[in-house]
Amino acid sequence: MKYDIDVSRIPNHIGIIMDGNGRYAEKRGLPRTAGHKAGAENLRKITEFARNTGVKNMTVYAFSTENWKRPSAEVSGIMKLLGFYLGDWKRQLGDSDLRIRVIGDVSAFEPSLQKKIAFVEKQTEKETGITLNIALGYGGRDEIVRAGKKIAQMCVDGKLKISDIDEPLFSSMMYTHYVADPELIIRTGGEIRTSNFLLWQSAYAEYYFTDVLWPEFTPDDLLKAIASYQNRDRRFGGLNK
Ligand code: IPE
Ligand code: IPE
Ligand code: MG
Repeated sequence: MKYDIDVSRIPNHIGIIMDGNGRYAEKRGLPRTAGHKAGAENLRKITEFARNTGVKNMTVYAFSTENWKRPSAEVSGIMKLLGFYLGDWKRQLGDSDLRIRVIGDVSAFEPSLQKKIAFVEKQTEKETGITLNIALGYGGRDEIVRAGKKIAQMCVDGKLKISDIDEPLFSSMMYTHYVADPELIIRTGGEIRTSNFLLWQSAYAEYYFTDVLWPEFTPDDLLKAIASYQNRDRRFGGLNK
């Protein structure tokens, strides 16, 4: 292997902020939507590679709560692509041991797209190779506010005492309640910020930032990120002595 990877320490859960689709297209004189298409193709490739490398969970940022601010033509282009890839997931998203779950608020999505999401989640629910969590209409702050509201409602209903509110309870109220927090979060596209991705879950994640644009991010780039992660000294606030 080109990068020195310890196969016994592959992260269980990797988050990816798939940024740079627009610039990839602009660089080639193509419409931004072409960049999103190339990004979606690459997601299929990287998911397959991650599965083969032993990654069990991947959470990818595909559409944020803030992305609604984009021109409506771009938003509808992204929605069309989502519809296409989800509708045709078996061929387009690769192998059958892929489980797909969507996290985020998709209530503003077209009903037909919401149906496709529910269908794909149901169709893949027994697959165990890798779980791909696709963050759609997702915002970390929105997720935390929702958790807070649910907890407040339980207190109002007398199902919970304020003294019982703790961090595990908050974690159990997140969209990602079924999966352990990511050990590694990768952001492509050169920006060094979270843009509202997995705020709660990333408390002790290792971050990896790269200038590579998402459609150009290769399996080798993933190995490079994993190698970097494996070289970090994770102290969790303590001392590794
Ligand atoms: C990320 O690529 C995909 C979405 C946000 C939907 P961008 O569209 O943000 O690409 P850049 O950052 O403009 O290059
Ligand atoms: C983050 O990228 C969201 C996704 C990759 C879906 P953005 O392009 O929306 O983030 P900003 O605007 O650069 O912070
Ligand atoms: Mg961007």
